Amino acid sequence: MTRHVFVNGSILPYEQASISIMDRGFLFADGVYEVSAVLDGRLVDNDAHLARLIRSLGEISIRSPFSTQQWTGFQQELIEKDALVEGIVYMQVTRGVAERDFVFPKEDKPTTVMFTQQKNIVASPLAATGAAVVTVPDLRWKRRDIKSVALLPQVLAKQHASMAGANEAFMVENGHVTEGGSSTAFIVTHDNVVVTRPLSNDILPGITRQAILALAEQGLVRIEERPFTVEEMLAAAEVFFTSASTFVTPVVSVDGRQIGDGRPGPRTLALREAYISIARAGSATH
Ligand code: PDD
Repeated sequence: MTRHVFVNGSILPYEQASISIMDRGFLFADGVYEVSAVLDGRLVDNDAHLARLIRSLGEISIRSPFSTQQWTGFQQELIEKDALVEGIVYMQVTRGVAERDFVFPKEDKPTTVMFTQQKNIVASPLAATGAAVVTVPDLRWKRRDIKSVALLPQVLAKQHASMAGANEAFMVENGHVTEGGSSTAFIVTHDNVVVTRPLSNDILPGITRQAILALAEQGLVRIEERPFTVEEMLAAAEVFFTSASTFVTPVVSVDGRQIGDGRPGPRTLALREAYISIARAGSATH
């Protein structure tokens, strides 16, 4: 089956899709991206992901090349062409092609790329076994609320985790966990409180995080938005992380130390199931 790529308004076979070497995304990482999950062939929480994409673009003064409705239409076309049932749609917008110069080009012509990736999100092996996490220093810039394609610190963090036999890196600043390399970090305390860092420029405002907070509003879980330390995490009843591409994933060890009884925690698994139900129901509206 041919894979397709969306480039600047056209959907092309993968082999025919290309970008200039003068693209500012390639030269300066001058761009932002977004990832929406696809479940049962339908987009999950997509309006929130598109709103964050448009916000990220605004924060770095790139105009969104498309309206939310147009974005959604192109995403759906790509999902259909690739016959994607479960996985993700990746979207990236850069400041476009120009002679190399740090200053913005005069011509406003953003580059847009989209592609799909197949992934078993619901039947993920990690959800069953639980993930191993290692902690690393947070080496990133000070505007982590923008979903920038400048991901070198996360690439290095996640490679470090992989070399250590772990599945995710949690980044740490001043003794407190900021977030995962590509996920939001949570702990569950022994008195059943789900704790996650409050939103600020220190972290990406996770869309899956927002959905978990909505469960709290429905009274399904108690949540505290506050920073937590590595020590508090090691002593927690449960640890988990969330993202569009993994939903809710239990963590069973941090830096080689067992969390709880070393198995995916019951509250984490309940949140995972609740989110999967919401994702399926919510996605039916798209
Ligand atoms: N990453 N924090 C960071 C640094 C992330 O890169 C991500 C997502 C999240 C979770 O956000 P959300 O729940 O909206 O996916 C938090 C995506 C999946 C990625 O880079 O592939």
